[in-house]
Amino acid sequence: MQRFEGRIGAVTGAGSGLGRAIAIALAAEGARLLLVDRDAAALDSLLPLCPGAIAVAGDVARAAEMEHAAREAMQRLGPVSLLVTAAGILGPTQPAVDAAEEDWDRAFAVNVKGTWLAVKAFLPQMRQQGGGAIVTLASAAGLTGSAQLQTYSATKGAVVMLSRSLALAHGPEGIRVNCLCPGSIETPMLAATFDAAGDAAERAARVAQFQARYPLRRFGRPEEVADAALFLLSAQATFLTGVSLPVDGGRLA
Ligand SMILES: NC(=O)c1ccc[n+]([C@@H]2O[C@H](COP(=O)([O-])OP(=O)(O)OC[C@H]3O[C@@H](n4cnc5c(N)ncnc54)[C@H](O)[C@@H]3O)[C@@H](O)[C@H]2O)c1
Repeated sequence: MQRFEGRIGAVTGAGSGLGRAIAIALAAEGARLLLVDRDAAALDSLLPLCPGAIAVAGDVARAAEMEHAAREAMQRLGPVSLLVTAAGILGPTQPAVDAAEEDWDRAFAVNVKGTWLAVKAFLPQMRQQGGGAIVTLASAAGLTGSAQLQTYSATKGAVVMLSRSLALAHGPEGIRVNCLCPGSIETPMLAATFDAAGDAAERAARVAQFQARYPLRRFGRPEEVADAALFLLSAQATFLTGVSLPVDGGRLA
């Protein structure tokens, strides 16, 4: 199936995990992509898997770098009508009251400001075409609090509300904005949350304890989040906007 033939998309955080899986899936269905990540080597390894794609290394938290990426897309591919904002970081893992100010600020800069700047950079290209579709990456931890990841949860709650507000504001322009709220998905970011647990036995115990909270008794795969992202971007979802969709194996049910 080629649901995105002739479409031009941009994916931030394309170098790893969910962004990478979404980019590969979009390219496989015909989209030509601008791939953005701060990790240039990761982008180089992804390019052969995304026919017709171009890559721009940059930091989503810096306006000038996102504007540069948007210009590159326009000049080398044409106007973007699909945007996925998957760049994100875990931020400080200690309780929020113990987090260092610079770590708190960086988590908000990447997760919240980075989402805002990507939308700000690419929205004019969507307007020019009379429409577009945006999928942001929040988290199940953006819909409920998290005792373990308090700062992260706060950033993702902000992404949920930014996405819903953008859907309200830009619906009249034909621009749909939906937000994915994944539970624990097997990516390097998830591995990092367990790596902090201590030795191998403690780590295994923590993984088992987390998985027990999932009705499906397992973590998700990046491809399962990619399936949801492509649906929200596609012509099968043309009356869907402002949704915050858990992709969480029933964790929040
Ligand atoms: N994996 C999960 O369990 C999970 C669950 C819920 C939500 N999420 C969210 O999904 C998104 C992707 O997560 P992932 O698990 O794929 O993480 P990941 O760490 O595997 O990949 C994140 C990518 O973003 C890039 N990145 C980070 N900061 C950047 C910046 N400032 N500028 C440009 N690129 C930057 C990294 O280089 C990396 O390639 C994140 O927003 C994350 O919060 C992940």
